[in-house]
Amino acid sequence: MTDASSLTTEALAAIGRAPSEDDLARIDQEYLGRKNGQVSRLLSNIAQLLPAEKASLGKAANEAKRAIEAALAARRAELETARLADLAETEAIDITFPGPPPERGHIHVLTQVRRQIETVLESLGYQVELGPEVETEWYNFEALNIAEGHPARENWDSFYFSKELLLRAHTSPVQIRAMQRIKEPPIYIITPGRCYRRDPPEATRLPYFSQVEGLAVDKGLTVGDMKGTLLYMIQSLYGRDRKVRVRPSYFPFTEPSFEFDVSCGICGGIGCKSCRHKGWLEVGGCGMVHPQVLRSGGIDPTQWNGYAWGFGIERMAMLKHDVDDIRLFYESDLRFLEQF
Ligand code: DAH
Repeated sequence: MTDASSLTTEALAAIGRAPSEDDLARIDQEYLGRKNGQVSRLLSNIAQLLPAEKASLGKAANEAKRAIEAALAARRAELETARLADLAETEAIDITFPGPPPERGHIHVLTQVRRQIETVLESLGYQVELGPEVETEWYNFEALNIAEGHPARENWDSFYFSKELLLRAHTSPVQIRAMQRIKEPPIYIITPGRCYRRDPPEATRLPYFSQVEGLAVDKGLTVGDMKGTLLYMIQSLYGRDRKVRVRPSYFPFTEPSFEFDVSCGICGGIGCKSCRHKGWLEVGGCGMVHPQVLRSGGIDPTQWNGYAWGFGIERMAMLKHDVDDIRLFYESDLRFLEQF
C-alpha cells in the first residue's frame, strides 16, 4: 500500500536525521504510538474493507512497523556509539601527563644557620655536645661561678620548676657537663640548643631562643686563639669581608670577658640605620674560662686553660639575613619562611 510505504519512507528519513535519543523517542511515539501513532491510524477504517484488502493492509502496516522499529534501533545504536566516541575524546585521562608538583617543605632557617655553624666548627675539630633543657640550679648557675645572691643572676631571669630545677637560661651548663664527661683535655666542643628566660616577647628578645656555646680546653690557649676561631666562624658564615672585634665585658664564668661584635654587613662598618650608626653588631659574649669553672668541670686549672663563647642563633640568623624582628622565626608564616 502506498500509504504504508510512504509513511515508512517518511519515518525512516526522520529517524536518519534525528540528532538525539530524545528525538528518537518522539519519532517512536509519533509513528508507533498505540492509539494515535501514524501506523495505528492506517488501520483505523479497516472495518469497512473487504477481507482481501484487510489482509494486505494489515500486512503492510506490520511491515511498516517492523521497518520503523529496526531503523529506530539502528539509529539508537549509532547515536550511542557516537556518544561514547565523544566521551573518549573529551573525558580521556592522559596518565602520562605530569601532575602538579607536590609541595615540598624545607629546613627552617634557624636549623639551616645552626647546621652551618656546626659544619664550620666541626671542620676545625669541634664536636657537637648536647645537654638537657631542664637543668639543675647547680649546672645553670653555681658551677658557672654565679653564686646564689650574686647580682649577675638577674641577667638570667629563669623559669623554675622547684628551688633546684629550672629551664636552662643559657647553654653554658653544657660546658660543665662536657668537661665532666670527657674528663681528659684537650676538649673542643660546641653545644647548640634551646634556652629559656622570663623575658616578654619583643623584636629583639623572646622567652625561648637558641644559643650555640663553644668551649675549648687545652694547654696555653690565648685570647688570640679564641678571636681567630670566632673570626673564622664569622667569615665562613657571613663572608670574608667581615671584621670582628672584642670589647671588655663581664661574665662570672670567664676572666677576662668580652662582648663580641661583627662589622655591619650593610654599610661595611661605616655606620647606617641597620647598625644604629655604630658600624658594629653585637653577636654574644666570650672570654677565657674562669679557673673556678674548670674546677667545677673536674679539670685542674693549673694544668689547663680554655676559652668559651655563647652566641644567640636567632641573632646570628638575623645578622645573616637582615631580619629585624626575632619573633618572625617562630610565627610559622610561610611568606617569611619560604624566603630562605
Ligand atoms: N652564657 C652567656 C649568656 O647567656 C653567654 C656567654 C658569654 C657564654 C661568655 C660564654 C661566654 O661561654 O664565655 O648570656
